[in-house]
Amino acid sequence: MKNSEVTKILVSEDEVREIVGRLGKEISESYGELDRELMVIGLLRGSFIFMADLIRVIDTPLVVDFMTVSSYGDGTVSSGDVKVVMDLDSSVEGRDVLLVEDIVDTGRTFSKVVRMMKNRNPKSLKICTFLNKPEARIADIDIDFCGIDIPNEFAVGYGLDYAQGYRNLPYVGVLEL
Ligand code: IMP
Ligand code: MG
Repeated sequence: MKNSEVTKILVSEDEVREIVGRLGKEISESYGELDRELMVIGLLRGSFIFMADLIRVIDTPLVVDFMTVSSYGDGTVSSGDVKVVMDLDSSVEGRDVLLVEDIVDTGRTFSKVVRMMKNRNPKSLKICTFLNKPEARIADIDIDFCGIDIPNEFAVGYGLDYAQGYRNLPYVGVLEL
């Protein structure tokens, strides 16, 4: 496995910075003043790099938590199965919650996580994704804060993996499989 197998860049490092900055502003403006900290929840592992950059450009007081759900295994095709592998540490009941994903592809993962979160009675629930593949959508999902639409290709880098590799690329590229 070599990083040089990534032949096309979809989102450059400069664009990543621009997008994250814009999202940070949108999110900060949208929440304004809250009674309690905003609870920012990242879906592991793909969102960890985006989440780290994003929270530093949000100026609303916040706390973070993480959840791992499994969807793809090590392949590139969604199985449609979503399982909670590691749950949140804290309760979302009565809290303003922002869910953060690396990418919404078919939308199956996020729509199930959203349904599960709503059952836990947060005060509000909004959704943020760095990448969006509208052409691949199967499950309907409303995204509140969207980084950038990309074509229906398999993306890696900036947290996104193929077989757990390539997450450390500072840009998003397409893997020639
Ligand atoms: P969905 O349920 O099809 O929307 O898929 C969501 C999850 O699949 C994401 O959180 C990613 O972990 C993974 N995924 C979907 N598309 C890609 C991709 O192009 N590259 C890497 N991971 C992807
Ligand atoms: Mg993911």
